[in-house]
Amino acid sequence: FVYPFLATVAAYLIGSLSFAVLVSRLMGLNDPRTYGSKNPGATNVLRSGNKAAAIITLLLDALKGWLPVVVVKVWGEAWGLGDGTVALVGFAAFLGHLFPVFFRFQGGKGVATAAGVIIAFEPWLGLASLATWLIVAFFFRYSSLASIITAVFAPFFYLFGDRVVWNAPGVIALSLAVMGLMLVWRHAENINRLIAGKESKLGAKKK
Ligand code: G3P
Repeated sequence: FVYPFLATVAAYLIGSLSFAVLVSRLMGLNDPRTYGSKNPGATNVLRSGNKAAAIITLLLDALKGWLPVVVVKVWGEAWGLGDGTVALVGFAAFLGHLFPVFFRFQGGKGVATAAGVIIAFEPWLGLASLATWLIVAFFFRYSSLASIITAVFAPFFYLFGDRVVWNAPGVIALSLAVMGLMLVWRHAENINRLIAGKESKLGAKKK
């Protein structure tokens, strides 16, 4: 149990790197926890008006979810790490983003990190999820709505594609389902704003 434990802790620590805060700091921008939705995530960094910072945040937050899963998938076997550890490290990186040890456990919502994890779990599933997000975002212009709908759909995509497109073990499905539920929970304020018609649209600047 030592190696799975170490891999999970490492993934959590990597996930704890809140790139919205770090990238904003490095690029001389305001702390995203002080404006807009106050969420340390790419969507809120975009409200600073700096697209490059938002894209870099998105990519790095996704990378920190993708990397631990791929490392365990590719090199894990030699260390006796199986599917359970793959599922666990993905979830640990996601948890790190939500509750970062380096930022007083005040993290983001986990959309970009979950995207990285899903792409690493099953690339086609990642692509289907990405397409869902883009379609909803394109038509409705709400990042949060796109994230919520994708979070709900991803576990179903997994079930539909299982044994047809991929042959993924049940622990991966469990990891996806828990991440999906937590993603929706983290968007509680967004859901209230959406219902009240007060959610800010993509491309709108900070208030
Ligand atoms: O990435 C999180 C997104 O779904 C919503 O972000 O800043 O609008 O709460 P935000």
